[in-house]
Amino acid sequence: MTAASETPALPTTRPAGCPYDPPETYATLREEAPTSQVRCPAGMDAWLVTRYSDVRAVLADRTMSSRGASSVHVNAGADLDGDFEVEVSPGSIIQLDGRDHSRLRKMVLAEFTVRRVEAMRTYVQELVESHLDAMLAKPGEADLVRDFALPIPSLVICELLGVPYADRERFQHQSGVLVSTDTTREQGQQAYEEISGFLAGLFTDKRKNPQDDLFSRLIARGEATGDALGMEELVMLGLSLLVAGHETTANMIALSTLVLLDHPQQRDVVLAAPERAVEELLRYLSVVQFGVLRYATEDVQVGTRAVKAGEWLVAALNSANRDEELFPAADKLDFHRESPRTHVAFGFGAHQCIGQQLARVELQEALTRLFRRVPDLRLAVPRESLAYKHNTLVYGVRELPVAWG
Ligand code: HEM
Repeated sequence: MTAASETPALPTTRPAGCPYDPPETYATLREEAPTSQVRCPAGMDAWLVTRYSDVRAVLADRTMSSRGASSVHVNAGADLDGDFEVEVSPGSIIQLDGRDHSRLRKMVLAEFTVRRVEAMRTYVQELVESHLDAMLAKPGEADLVRDFALPIPSLVICELLGVPYADRERFQHQSGVLVSTDTTREQGQQAYEEISGFLAGLFTDKRKNPQDDLFSRLIARGEATGDALGMEELVMLGLSLLVAGHETTANMIALSTLVLLDHPQQRDVVLAAPERAVEELLRYLSVVQFGVLRYATEDVQVGTRAVKAGEWLVAALNSANRDEELFPAADKLDFHRESPRTHVAFGFGAHQCIGQQLARVELQEALTRLFRRVPDLRLAVPRESLAYKHNTLVYGVRELPVAWG
């Protein structure tokens, strides 16, 4: 790599005027330097991979380690350099590699089959309807983020984890603090400790009194096959589902609503073909905005670039999803694309999102029911006054004041 001072920063600035487009530099990079070096906010240098084909190749490559996956590269102030060792907790599925990863993933995947997720649909529908009832009972205005987009995924995760109804409000509050971007380090640490303690108690109870939920089944299956999950593993897995499934889905619901307020003529397509529309929204918005991080454990070729063992790579999902090679007129929202599922908004390869089916169900139900019940939904504030999450791992709108009637 070149001298440290010459290394450009990871692109993070979106074009003025279009809150949905990724940084403009990505289009140039895809053409001229598809794998180029950048300095990440956390301080280390990485190869930024911008073309769709290269992103998929990197994510499918089993020699790439995920030990830094999640937010390590955007964690400003982490004071990391090139060779650091990341400590990976057992159960932190997103960061595990090789056999440790496939063992855990296999167990969890059994709980996210299409059949199981479809069985959750009725619960999601009820949640959406009850939140719409509560929102519409207000006198004509609400914050769609606080009143609709955030609580729905949070309660879906409570249901997945088997959190008792009496504890849900407190659990939701703590998990809101844990995943919020406005939380201080101390508040985050406190919420983390409280939730970990709560989950340990919950899973200890499930060992003794199994119920009909994901973790009771995971515990029972592990014990039956002689491969029981330890308490630390269970707690980290619970936390991983919470962190991976909450902010992502909530931001997608709110941002998709805003897109549909901006494109009112497209709403009928969403109501008529929600599956197709949700895929295009996932591609177009690509909310995991700073990509996913990998660590090369062996020398490898990425496109025309030779990457050495010990170097970091950022697979830019939002750039891949705007690659014209795959998506003609990629910057246009087009609900009639061929093969709408080819996007990489859920990643690709061994770590591809486990909750993707569930996220799809939540998005389909939330968007169709919202616009069916509130066809006159509109912004309650001037468009320019909306604030976006420019610096956080998951992109979104901070508040979405809406009105009706
Ligand atoms: C629109 C919503 C969502 C988006 C955009 C999204 C995106 C992603 C992405 C890009 C990855 C890959 C990370 C990597 O390769 O390093 C991932 C992994 C993961 N996601 Fe999601 N996700 C969403 C919803 C959910 C939900 C609802 C859940 C569960 C309740 C979930 C659970 C997970 C888990 C457990 C992993 C790690 C899988 C593994 O490492 O094997 N996600 N997600």
